Amino acid sequence: MFDLSLELVRVVEEAAIAAARTMGMGDGKAADHAAVESMRRVLDTIPIDGTIVIGEGERDKAPMLYIGERVGTGRDVDGSLSVDIAVDPLEGTNLCATGAGGAITVLAASEKGGLLHAPDCYMEKIIVGPSAKGAVDLDAPVKHNLKAIARRLQRGVDDLVIVVLDRPRHEQLIRDIREAGARIRLIADGDLSAGIAAAVIGTGVHAVMGIGGAPEGVLSAAALRCLNGEIVGRLVVKDSAQAERMQEMGIRDLKQIYTAKDLAPGRNLVFAASGVTDGNLLKGVRFFGDGIRTQSVVMNLSPARVRFIDSVHLENRPDVRVRFQ
Ligand code: FBP
Repeated sequence: MFDLSLELVRVVEEAAIAAARTMGMGDGKAADHAAVESMRRVLDTIPIDGTIVIGEGERDKAPMLYIGERVGTGRDVDGSLSVDIAVDPLEGTNLCATGAGGAITVLAASEKGGLLHAPDCYMEKIIVGPSAKGAVDLDAPVKHNLKAIARRLQRGVDDLVIVVLDRPRHEQLIRDIREAGARIRLIADGDLSAGIAAAVIGTGVHAVMGIGGAPEGVLSAAALRCLNGEIVGRLVVKDSAQAERMQEMGIRDLKQIYTAKDLAPGRNLVFAASGVTDGNLLKGVRFFGDGIRTQSVVMNLSPARVRFIDSVHLENRPDVRVRFQ
């Protein structure tokens, strides 16, 4: 029987392989293009009537995976094949270009209307796992939130690891976290995979704080709903032109604080990601003589299920061999 989750794994796996071929070449554009092109091609082999709701930008700016683009082989008559799709073909473009860890290929899918059409702007975020769900407040002082997270996790603030994007805009946040006594992992890129790690026990990440991309916020929310974690986020409005554009997109309250359920309200959410370079949660693509090995995670909200998938993509040769590890 057709299993959308497994089809979507194929999409992120192929995109990861394509991006990984460019790893370390110092060309972020080429890396991104490889992932986008692959994702577009494989999405178009799936029997769905898909619409890209978060993608590479507006139609006039992106040749593929633009917002509103239809993908898949199915054309709907009764709504049963309709799927909204949010993609981040290569999350951590620069990580891939420099061969640094943490680059992933990502997408989320849901029934129509299940993913917020977030504008391409920044979002202020706090992301926590299931234990600290409901304990954080975007407007509370940093030390209050850290105390609340620590209490829920039954440990001291000094035992916490908070992931923050290494950006000048986070100087004050970093100072506040340090003053409160928590430890910080500064990352060059990739608050989406850090957010997923925060919701998985044993990754050593307890929260993500700071300002990152809003589209990444929606994709994180889809994963967090499947993992029972939480994101609280608020769009960062740069100027009046952006405010106008957001209002045109149907966002009425520009100061709204979104939760995971607001960002990804779908009932049939699927989230899939593959490692491009080694990260907290997923190993990167490994090329070897007879094939290619990928590691992916695919999550469903209903029925609730998280699958880690280790695939060996073999060459079609009679003497092909598979290794256990
Ligand atoms: P891309 O690799 O997809 O460009 O995004 C990487 C990323 O670090 C995200 O994880 C994060 O949300 C965003 O960029 C932060 O934006 P900026 O680099 O402008 O601070």
